[in-house]
Amino acid sequence: MLHLPTIPELRAWTRDQRVAGRRIGLVPTMGALHQGHLALVDEARRRSDAVVMSVFVNPLQFGPGEDLTRYPRDLARDRSLAGECGVDAVFAPTEAMMYPPGSTTRVVPGPASKRWEGAARPGHFTGVLTVVAKLFHLAEPDVACFGQKDFQQAVLVRQMVRDLDWPLELVVVPTVREPDGLALSSRNVYLDAPGRRSALGLSMALRAAHEAWRAGERDPAAIEGRVRGVLDNHAGLAVEYVAVVDPETLEPVSQTSGATIVALAGRVDGTRLIDNIVLGQGLV
Ligand code: PAJ
Repeated sequence: MLHLPTIPELRAWTRDQRVAGRRIGLVPTMGALHQGHLALVDEARRRSDAVVMSVFVNPLQFGPGEDLTRYPRDLARDRSLAGECGVDAVFAPTEAMMYPPGSTTRVVPGPASKRWEGAARPGHFTGVLTVVAKLFHLAEPDVACFGQKDFQQAVLVRQMVRDLDWPLELVVVPTVREPDGLALSSRNVYLDAPGRRSALGLSMALRAAHEAWRAGERDPAAIEGRVRGVLDNHAGLAVEYVAVVDPETLEPVSQTSGATIVALAGRVDGTRLIDNIVLGQGLV
């Protein structure tokens, strides 16, 4: 597996793949790799001939007081995991390479960025779209894979691809979970054993929403009530939002007849965790 530590090296790699007629697959990450990231790699491998993973903890998407400085970083481990699962090249630039002094242009998301994660983390999605746009320009992927786990991010990237006419296929991969249901996240390493038990409330609450829906419940308020009931039973879990929303606009729905997402965010010991399900599909 190739290590590409600089922008010129990534560009040269991209050009070589193009010349060789290979389809390029891109998997953007912030490292601290887990099986969720590796599921994106599997999907990228199925849909392309050469897979590049970026590993970059993007300072632009962290707000003041968030976990930028303590975010887990272990590039040696990430590189070996990426190599084992068939990544062809890892692009791991420094902050100074991605944002040299004077780099002030930003990609601003549309209204679907205002709610939920965007409301809790002002400027977060501008940071995400700006770095993803740069990665798209540098890697020129034919296909790019993102996780359903960060559904609002995936929706906003999809809108950016459409609005800025990027010639690429965007694939959203189902959330990978622990056997007990907890969604894999790089931030799970912050949890101690009691914290992990509290965090489990998130996926249990989503499962309750799914069960209510399967039993015929279609009223969003009733579904939200079920979710909150489970969350309230988990000491140590401070709920930030429970959202029953349209998967395109991310606005709350008045009926769950069409495709609907139940998304939630909560804090356990200061660690912010998010999760969601698509009603009708269950915990994926
Ligand atoms: P990061 O949190 O490292 O996640 C990288 C990708 O992995 C995202 O598309 C995310 O949705 C996906 N992912 C995370 N946990 C997952 C899980 N349990 N199952 C499936 N996919 C999962 O998201 C980011 O980084 C950044 O915002 C980034 C897009 C790299 C821009 O900086």
